[in-house]
Amino acid sequence: MNPKVEKALNEQIHAEFFSFYLYLSVSAYFTAIHLEGFAHWMRIQAQEESGHAMKLFDFLNERGGTVKLLPIDAPTREWASPSAAVETVLNHERAISERINKLVDLATSENDHATTVMLHWYVSEQVEEEATADTLFHQVKMVESNPHGLLMIDRELAARPAPVAATQGE
Ligand SMILES: [Fe+2]
Ligand SMILES: [Fe+2]
Repeated sequence: MNPKVEKALNEQIHAEFFSFYLYLSVSAYFTAIHLEGFAHWMRIQAQEESGHAMKLFDFLNERGGTVKLLPIDAPTREWASPSAAVETVLNHERAISERINKLVDLATSENDHATTVMLHWYVSEQVEEEATADTLFHQVKMVESNPHGLLMIDRELAARPAPVAATQGE
């Protein structure tokens, strides 16, 4: 496998596992402030992120690349408000989208078509991730001064189903 692409894919596995860590940390924050629906939603999203990492892990193995797992930094643990926590998630997803776009650029310039095609799934996934985080951020911002509104969103978020094994990461 092309060593530049292999290195970049390993770095993306790392970034997805950091996302897993970040969402878990946000989930713990929401549990601590008794917004269990938010906590549940973030925990499910963490599961999805480990799915994103594993999809790349499997791809590297399939292509004869070497998986090199990197150390994961501790994520932020505390936020000033629910909207601040969701804003962290939104900014993080924007940064992940930029990483994915750069990965596509690299795979394309290295003529690694298999990687380019595989990455298209991530390009679409990031459209969804950014849109979801953006909506949630704006809705939380809207109701933040009104506990009633916050509890309504909390109840909605509590209904998010767990990803099914076969479609994990989607
Ligand atoms: Fe992801
Ligand atoms: Fe998703």
